[in-house]
Amino acid sequence: MVQQVLLFTLPPLRSMSTHQRMVVASLPLLLSLHSILVVSSILILLATAGFSRDDGGYSECKKPFDCGLLQNLSYPFWGGNRPQYCGHPAFRLLCQEGQYPSIAGDREPEQFRLVGADPNRKVMKVEPIDPEQYICPQNPENKTLNPSFLSFIDSDLHSLNLFYNCTDSSDKPGTVRIGCLGWGGSYFGFERWPTVSGQYPPMCNVTIRIPVPGDAVDGLQKRGMPAVEGLLGEGYNLSYLYGSAPTICQGCTSSGGVCGSNTAKVVESH
Ligand SMILES: *[C@@H]1O[C@H](CO)[C@@H](O)[C@H](O)[C@H]1NC(C)=O
Ligand SMILES: *[C@@H]1O[C@H](CO)[C@@H](O)[C@H](O)[C@H]1NC(C)=O
Ligand SMILES: *[C@@H]1O[C@H](CO)[C@@H](O)[C@H](O)[C@H]1NC(C)=O
Ligand SMILES: *[C@@H]1O[C@H](CO)[C@@H](O)[C@H](O)[C@H]1NC(C)=O
Ligand SMILES: *[C@@H]1O[C@H](CO)[C@@H](O)[C@H](O)[C@H]1NC(C)=O
Repeated sequence: MVQQVLLFTLPPLRSMSTHQRMVVASLPLLLSLHSILVVSSILILLATAGFSRDDGGYSECKKPFDCGLLQNLSYPFWGGNRPQYCGHPAFRLLCQEGQYPSIAGDREPEQFRLVGADPNRKVMKVEPIDPEQYICPQNPENKTLNPSFLSFIDSDLHSLNLFYNCTDSSDKPGTVRIGCLGWGGSYFGFERWPTVSGQYPPMCNVTIRIPVPGDAVDGLQKRGMPAVEGLLGEGYNLSYLYGSAPTICQGCTSSGGVCGSNTAKVVESH
């Protein structure tokens, strides 16, 4: 339509009135003004048709990103060169070339590595960083691994409790002995996560609590410490498919939108 308006024929210059000459002389200017108008209307049309009113740069979030050894990551993960508004604060990744990213969350110590992610199934595979520090540890320290991303985990979780240097050497029901050189009696056992603590009253100098999937518990109890070491060393899947509050933009992604969040609340953009 725009181009039809511009298709008119001009009479030879000499036969024009002064007024007509002025019009012709200013035609390039009119045309360029016109193209500016056309271009801006197209931009405005694109902006209103293609993106929602609260897009605010979120189209950037549609691009998957790579972080260390992991590729094609998307919401709720962010970090590296992907801005925070494309992810959820609890899922901040620290990317290092040739390594699996660590999950740093929001101002918290890194306790887990992300070793796999399947956005379609909403499954992430994690492993504790340096699991050997929890197995017959050299520098004993009471510790509970409780990163903030656990608030958005849908899987049934149990606490793997590792007890070291226990003064009472008799075996305790529901616990399995750990043979650690240089330590007093040591055991591992399980309770539901989050722990209410005090399930075990054994007098132990060191207790370490690590969240693990509930369906791994039976196998670990039967197969003992080697199985525990295997689980911590290889990692395990956790589901971040959240059907109930707090949802991280479930409805948004299923409708083809992209998700991001600011620090106050999750922002949806369709
Ligand atoms: C990246 O992830 C998207 C969405 O999860 C998927 O559709 C696509 O096939 C993946 N691409 C590659 C190269 O893995
Ligand atoms: C963990 O999730 C990954 C990615 O979806 C999948 O390939 C793998 O089979 C899962 N492992 C277990 C033990 O379920
Ligand atoms: C660990 O916690 C127990 C029980 O609270 C305490 O008695 C012990 O001193 C702590 N051990 C270390 C190494 O801090
Ligand atoms: C920790 O070890 C010290 C030194 O052996 C001992 O006196 C103390 O009772 C132990 N703490 C616990 C909670 O068993
Ligand atoms: C472990 O127990 C021994 C003997 O009671 C004690 O000397 C040592 O200090 C304890 N270790 C820790 C880390 O509490």
